[in-house]
Amino acid sequence: MPVNTSRISGFHKLSRLERLAKIADLTGLSKEEKAAFSAASAPLGETADHLCENVIGTMNIPFGIATNLIIDGEDVLVPMATEESSVIAAVCNGARQCRDTGGIFTSKDENCMIGQIQISGLENPFAARAALFENISEIKTICDECDTLLVQLGGGFRDLEVRVLDTNPPIVVAHIIVDCRDAMGANTVNTMVEKLADKVEQWTGGKVELRILSNLADRRLVRARATFPASTIGGAKTRDAIIRAGRFAVADPYRATTHNKGIMNGISAVVLASGNDTRAVEAGAHAYAARSGQYSALTRWEKDNEGNLTGTLELPMPIGIVGGATRVHPSAQMAMKIMNISSADRLASIIAAVGLVQNFSALKALATEGIQRGHMSLHANNVALAAGAVGAEIEILAIKMVEAKNVRVEFAEQILVEMRNG
Ligand code: MEV
Repeated sequence: MPVNTSRISGFHKLSRLERLAKIADLTGLSKEEKAAFSAASAPLGETADHLCENVIGTMNIPFGIATNLIIDGEDVLVPMATEESSVIAAVCNGARQCRDTGGIFTSKDENCMIGQIQISGLENPFAARAALFENISEIKTICDECDTLLVQLGGGFRDLEVRVLDTNPPIVVAHIIVDCRDAMGANTVNTMVEKLADKVEQWTGGKVELRILSNLADRRLVRARATFPASTIGGAKTRDAIIRAGRFAVADPYRATTHNKGIMNGISAVVLASGNDTRAVEAGAHAYAARSGQYSALTRWEKDNEGNLTGTLELPMPIGIVGGATRVHPSAQMAMKIMNISSADRLASIIAAVGLVQNFSALKALATEGIQRGHMSLHANNVALAAGAVGAEIEILAIKMVEAKNVRVEFAEQILVEMRNG
């Protein structure tokens, strides 16, 4: 039922269960609905209250394991949190097809993030720019004092960039480049840019406005590469079709968007399972895909001298293994353990490898038989659930729908009634 008002005074001060009771009351949730939601939310319990605000429960997403991956010479089992069927199966399938050539190989930049300081009110932006560079050693000192532990661990301030934007009036943008090591770094970098504000005003004579991290983390790129033998993937015809599909995505933003969405199916699922910020990674990936001025594909597909298919992926990877949900959420901790993660570098490599393999599987399916046959047989389980099937009924109903080539809820409901009536 529609609520009379969304103004609930003191809502944030209530306990999680009191908030749920209030919402149930205001929106007319039944006792059963409330109990089912509460039961589904129970496992994360109090932890959820500390992760964000106004919590009434949790949203549970399936947490599966991608098998068959060899990344930089080491076998690894990769947890993926996703509600989309076919995503994990596609990674398992694709990873198997590059095992004989050693799996996926990766490389990484340093873990540098960019913090931006917007300076306005300047008649002499280039002089202001010069003044900032004259004070680079004090900038370094101020930044490094904000996180002495990070400096002890080998991170901290690395560099200064100053750009003059061609706006009217001009905006000067100072970038501090900070090596965040095993942290994602948003808190550290945001503290640093805020701390610098007064001095920056003094040095430039301008007015400091925004002070915030940039999610275009192009100083923190990760690359993944894999070779798929032509004989394993269905021959030269399939290889060439995948290469043509890749070129389509490079040239056309409409296709590139879907192509990259598929890559992010894999990437975001690992980022989420590891308790990292999916939106930071997604924003960086899409901005990087548009860096030439035209939105394009994040991967490239080519043929090597032996006639094998090679794929490469490059994108920013602003993730960490300390801080945030990574250390607090029990599923994220479990994910780290399963992957045997001891550095943000390794996690970044795994995430990129999954993105590349995901793209391979999508292109292979799309360039050959299309995705619907494989997708529908997995999707049929979801449809069976939506139709009300329980327990063993789910699989039987899914098989019946696939056999009938009709994977739709109305059809599933009809068969379910027939099944139950014997
Ligand atoms: C669906 O979630 C992802 C795909 O559309 C990706 C692609 O088209 O490359 C299959």
